[in-house]
Amino acid sequence: MNTKQKMTLLLLLIAVSACATVVSLPDSKESIASIKASFADKGIAKMDRLDQSELQKTCSDYAQKELPAEIRAQLEKAATDSVKYPASGKYLGDWKEGEKVAQNGRGLQFSDDSKTVNGGNCYACHQISKEEIAYGNIGPSLAQYGKLRGGPSEEIVKYTWSKIYSSHAFNACSVMPRYGAAGILSEKQMQDVMALLLDPQSPINK
Ligand code: HEC
Repeated sequence: MNTKQKMTLLLLLIAVSACATVVSLPDSKESIASIKASFADKGIAKMDRLDQSELQKTCSDYAQKELPAEIRAQLEKAATDSVKYPASGKYLGDWKEGEKVAQNGRGLQFSDDSKTVNGGNCYACHQISKEEIAYGNIGPSLAQYGKLRGGPSEEIVKYTWSKIYSSHAFNACSVMPRYGAAGILSEKQMQDVMALLLDPQSPINK
């Protein structure tokens, strides 16, 4: 190694050790304080939205490590027990209305008011109808959802209702909104979205 190469190596080592000492990750208290400092109440969106539920706290604690099976089972059981099934026994509404709910991303935003009817914004995360080409892929494709599952059997209907009502029932730390448990969609809107996914007449099952 000549002197120039030695100097380059030395500078590189200094740079690497400097990085190692400067970078230290904030703990959860510091992270929360810094997130809170970046937001303010605006319209209907208030700061209490940043307060985590016990489930969310647990999921944050385990964000970088495996959630122990026992805790996972407890969280999923609590979510399953919270699911309210329609008293009428009717699970499938009108798929045309369901498509509108799935398309609608309004509601609960700072620019909405408390009278705005919430949408489901399902396309933000899922492919559903093949006519809609703008969709996100955080969640799996729901195209042909009912057809691929052999139609609306009681088991599939109850599973789908529970998943939409409280996504944590089947995946403790799911990022999907809890449409029933968090009061985002009404029972009627959920029945309509269910029809979009499961009614054999729904174009997504053709
Ligand atoms: C923020 C993203 C997001 C939104 C919005 C969202 N989902 Fe999901 N959804 C997911 C993710 C991620 C999964 C799979 C893994 C999980 O549950 O964490 C999922 C799973 C599902 C499943 C189960 C699929 C299967 O094969 O078992 C159904 C049904 C579903 N979503 C329906 C809906 C409906 C209906 C809406 C709108 C009312 C919706 N989702 C909105 C993220 C989302």
